[in-house]
Amino acid sequence: MHIYHFIFCAVFSLCSPVFSDEDFYQSRACCTFSGSHYDDMEYTLKFAFNDNLMMEFNSTRGNWTGFTPYSVMVAHTWSSDPFDAVVRAVEKKLLCEDNLGLIQDFAVLGSAPTIRLKAVKQPPMLVCSAYNFYPKEIEVTWWRHGQKVTTGISYSEALADGEFYYQIHSYLEVTPTLGDNISCMVEHHSLSEPVVVVWDPSLPVAQRAQIAVGLCGLMLGLAVFICGLIYYQKKPAAYVSVGHGRVMIPVEHLPAGGATLQPDIAAPDEAHTWK
Ligand SMILES: *[C@@H]1O[C@H](CO)[C@@H](O)[C@H](O)[C@H]1NC(C)=O
Ligand SMILES: *[C@@H]1O[C@H](CO)[C@@H](O)[C@H](O)[C@H]1NC(C)=O
Ligand SMILES: *[C@@H]1O[C@H](CO)[C@@H](O)[C@H](O)[C@H]1NC(C)=O
Repeated sequence: MHIYHFIFCAVFSLCSPVFSDEDFYQSRACCTFSGSHYDDMEYTLKFAFNDNLMMEFNSTRGNWTGFTPYSVMVAHTWSSDPFDAVVRAVEKKLLCEDNLGLIQDFAVLGSAPTIRLKAVKQPPMLVCSAYNFYPKEIEVTWWRHGQKVTTGISYSEALADGEFYYQIHSYLEVTPTLGDNISCMVEHHSLSEPVVVVWDPSLPVAQRAQIAVGLCGLMLGLAVFICGLIYYQKKPAAYVSVGHGRVMIPVEHLPAGGATLQPDIAAPDEAHTWK
């Protein structure tokens, strides 16, 4: 079972001309959502000066910690100030509690990968990349004339791509020749069925690009769809009922032109049943 874990941050930076052009001051307010329903929330607020952490507030501990002699003093003062505690509680509500529903929606639906397939000359290989997906688990396979390719393949790790998303690259050592039918297949829980991108060396470069563009269009559609779902989610219960890890929407509420989008996006096996 996967324990999903989210971090959501707002960062404020300030260059301080008082010291020098190089100096900067940064505050970073973060929310960590964990637990099976993401409702274990921890709010942290960190102040850094030129990348040196000076002070930190941690809502689990409920107090400030200082990391330099001066900020230890300040931390002590702020920790015993009841007004400070109220301000931190309001920040926690705005950044964490008010976004919980959004995080839960995102976690159930996931984020569909954007897929690109390209050829590299030196060394000769095809690269299939998937970007902006969540959760991390993904399967990328190669197919040649309908047969699964098992040799000459290497993968990158699923790399973090921003605070939320992942990206992965799969390499196939091959020099595609005319008449070769090579494709990259991506399976991910956010996709109702695997996405297959075919490498067709006979297509002119411009047309090959269309494959990726067309796919992006599909992803955009999905993003709109997901936004719609989140919108419906805010309405009374009848619109979207989430249960047994499946999202069900009455057909009449499907976005127009959404015929290619599957209403029954499968949620992860370890289904989150809320409420
Ligand atoms: C906040 O404090 C708790 C309890 O000491 C600790 O488990 C957690 O890792 C801290 N969070 C951060 C972001 O440092
Ligand atoms: C903050 O709280 C923790 C436990 O809740 C305690 O161990 C620590 O000494 C406190 N720090 C300050 C600066 O008050
Ligand atoms: C290439 O293979 C894919 C699936 O493996 C198939 O859908 C497609 O029709 C094939 N294309 C050609 C030109 O054979």
